[in-house]
Amino acid sequence: MEKIAIFASGNGSNAQRIIEYFDGHPNIRVQLVVSNKADAAVLGRAERAGTNTLLINREQFYQSEELLAELQAQGITFVVLAGFLWLVPSYLIRAYEGRMLNIHPALLPGYGGKGMYGIRVHRAVKAAGEKESGITVHQVNEQYDEGDIIFQARCKLLPSDDAETIARRVQKLEHEHFAPVIEQFITDQL
Ligand code: GRF
Repeated sequence: MEKIAIFASGNGSNAQRIIEYFDGHPNIRVQLVVSNKADAAVLGRAERAGTNTLLINREQFYQSEELLAELQAQGITFVVLAGFLWLVPSYLIRAYEGRMLNIHPALLPGYGGKGMYGIRVHRAVKAAGEKESGITVHQVNEQYDEGDIIFQARCKLLPSDDAETIARRVQKLEHEHFAPVIEQFITDQL
């Protein structure tokens, strides 16, 4: 059985979708949800789904390898970042090289990098007058949003769209594609 840890800082709609998608899957399960925010809605979503949760602080994440030890103790084989806002330290990237994915709510390499998250991404897309946006699933390396791209999906934008409309359209794509893309990525490595 391949065991996923999802790292998330916020609402967790993607995390929930992924947990539900793999419920009953023969080879893959979501074992653990890790968050850096005690009040993140993702923690409640995970608990209601019966998934283990772990809250981490900055020191545990950056100054120790406690989290890695815990991931290994729980048999985690893949890490998925779903709205996780801290830069992942190199000890974790090395430990899960080629086995860590992130989703970004735009078509990278555009509209990525430090500070480009949430509604800011969609505001920038709107301000640039783009005719389309979309999602990017990519591997994680030591720079924000720069790992190898493994999947993109696109949606058209209308001149009347505002950032919130774009956000909703992009999130729909995330909920549709992220879990099956994770499944394919893992399956390809088995
Ligand atoms: C998603 O748009 C994802 O692309 C980004 O953060 C957002 C998380 O949304 N990295 P949610 O917490 O899964 O609802």
